[in-house]
Amino acid sequence: MMKMKLMTLGLSLALSLTATSAFADGDAAKGEKIFKRKCMSCHTIEEGAGAKIGPNLFGITGKKSASVEGYNYSKAMKDADLVWDKQTLDDYLKKPRDYVKGTKMGFVGLKKESERQDVITYLETFK
Ligand code: HEC
Repeated sequence: MMKMKLMTLGLSLALSLTATSAFADGDAAKGEKIFKRKCMSCHTIEEGAGAKIGPNLFGITGKKSASVEGYNYSKAMKDADLVWDKQTLDDYLKKPRDYVKGTKMGFVGLKKESERQDVITYLETFK
């Protein structure tokens, strides 16, 4: 029993050190910088802010895809039927046009897993 606990502890320590887990928590401060550099040209994030090229992303985690009132989504996004959580956001942000084929989000994606985790953690602070 004790041994199991120690192993679990060791494992979670190893994961947090290398941040290789798909669900490891990112760094919101780093995520903010990435958001400003790579997302803000097309997205707002503050509550009640308007759409730019893309929809406002306030409260996006836990929301259904294509559900921001008044935003004109692509047919692909309307048909995607996703719930935005850590996993789906990670998959989408990695390669938007592979994950939602036909999306009009003109963004190549964030190759680095750590960058995706940081941005997702930042997004989660707005709800
Ligand atoms: C060149 C403009 C552009 C950039 C850069 C961009 N997006 Fe988007 N984004 C869009 C558009 C347009 C849509 C709507 C997609 C559709 O309808 O197919 C969208 C949709 C989304 C959605 C789905 C929203 C919903 O309501 O279902 C998420 C989440 C998202 N973007 C996150 C991001 C993040 C995070 C970044 C930065 C890493 C980013 N986007 C960068 C234009 C952009």
